[in-house]
Amino acid sequence: MTNSLNNKNEAWSGRFAEPVSELVQRYTASVGFDQRLAEVDIQGSLAHAEMLCHVGLLSTEDFQAIEKGMATILEDIRSGRFEWSVALEDVHLNIEKRLTDLVGDAGKRLHTARSRNDQVATDIRLWLRAEIDVIRLELKALRLALVSQAEAHADTIMPGFTHLQVAQPISFGHHMLAYEAMFARDDERLADARRRVNRLPLGAAALAGTSYPIDRERVAKTLGFEALCENSLDAVSDRDFAIEFTAACALIMTHISRLSEELILWMTSRYGFIKLPDRFCTGSSIMPQKKNPDVPELARGKTGRVNGHLVALLTLMKGQPLAYNKDNQEDKEPLFDTVDTVRDTLKAFADMVAGIEPQVDAMRAAVLEGYATATDLADYLVKKGLPFRDAHEAVALAVRQAVEKGCSLENLSLAELQSFHPLIEDDIYMVLRPEGALEARDHVGGTAPNQVRLQAAKLKKLLSA
Ligand code: ARG
Repeated sequence: MTNSLNNKNEAWSGRFAEPVSELVQRYTASVGFDQRLAEVDIQGSLAHAEMLCHVGLLSTEDFQAIEKGMATILEDIRSGRFEWSVALEDVHLNIEKRLTDLVGDAGKRLHTARSRNDQVATDIRLWLRAEIDVIRLELKALRLALVSQAEAHADTIMPGFTHLQVAQPISFGHHMLAYEAMFARDDERLADARRRVNRLPLGAAALAGTSYPIDRERVAKTLGFEALCENSLDAVSDRDFAIEFTAACALIMTHISRLSEELILWMTSRYGFIKLPDRFCTGSSIMPQKKNPDVPELARGKTGRVNGHLVALLTLMKGQPLAYNKDNQEDKEPLFDTVDTVRDTLKAFADMVAGIEPQVDAMRAAVLEGYATATDLADYLVKKGLPFRDAHEAVALAVRQAVEKGCSLENLSLAELQSFHPLIEDDIYMVLRPEGALEARDHVGGTAPNQVRLQAAKLKKLLSA
């Protein structure tokens, strides 16, 4: 980064009598991070110039000069040759200055009927729209990995928990599809937020619109925006679209964090429910026996970072009077970091979820130890006419006996079980086996392997379309 002007105020005009201090120059500059918007900035400028030419505010020669200059600039930026200057404050002024150096007066005419206020709002929207599309693809890859696990493990039985206590047996595939359902809603939220991102602010100029005969619909069409921002004050000032997007990302990370927490627990020797491929784990420098689930732990930690960005953006907005304020320059770093964090996390998770190896025996043993079919025993008695509360009490006594004997419910003899209630017959053993408990829950949303397979097939079709 250079300082091509001696001082930033030279970028403005004769209006300024004294230079800003070096600190103020550094404090107010955004080019260190907003150069990330360079390509969309050029894209927006070209659409604006084309419109100016179309309505007769710019000659064809000037427009062609601008196109040529921008092509050079784009090449220089892509190859890393472009010299960014802190004195030129931001990405917009850097590119405009270089354009003017390259093509002279045509470059100076580009900013007709435009302000950096509507320019930057347009850039962020263009950039974010593309990022949303990438994130949605990455979400899809993760959802497909979950669906594949569900397909492969519809019949794998694990304990389902409430209060982190063993509750009822469930299909491991069903558990995977619970996360798919969360990420499916996340995808809906992103798709919905995209509709409000995809509106054109350009034409709002500094805040009030412009006295030139511009054609905003034309620019919107060139840039692929679905609609115009219909109030110029709002167009340049609100960043609610970025907040909404970040809120959707905070929820994605929250879901990732819940999954992470489970993977971390399942990997401990106390659970032993899964193995994770070594490429997602690291060892300890001091304890040779350790294999730590670093990726899920970091993802759980990075959730705090994205939640923080959401709060930062909300706070950034809340005190701003209409219209544009420089506060808004602070929208970029939280937004960029949210995108980077979510993209990397989703990518790592799609790969990691595909690599989960459920430890079938350990899961089944935990089901048996946890008396997870006690509810099924109660339901059995209810179906034979006993009121549920009485059935609950009879089963509680049976569980107590099993605990005392140190065995599972299905290891109690028929005579022992009948001592808790005479309605119990030997068809009870079907019910007490975890397989029976799963199969019995055969309705939409239930954990029966049959339902898990149906759901997985439906989702696979949807996601592969
Ligand atoms: N760098 C500025 C931003 O990110 C661009 C808009 C500046 N506008 C202004 N009037 N100073 O918000």
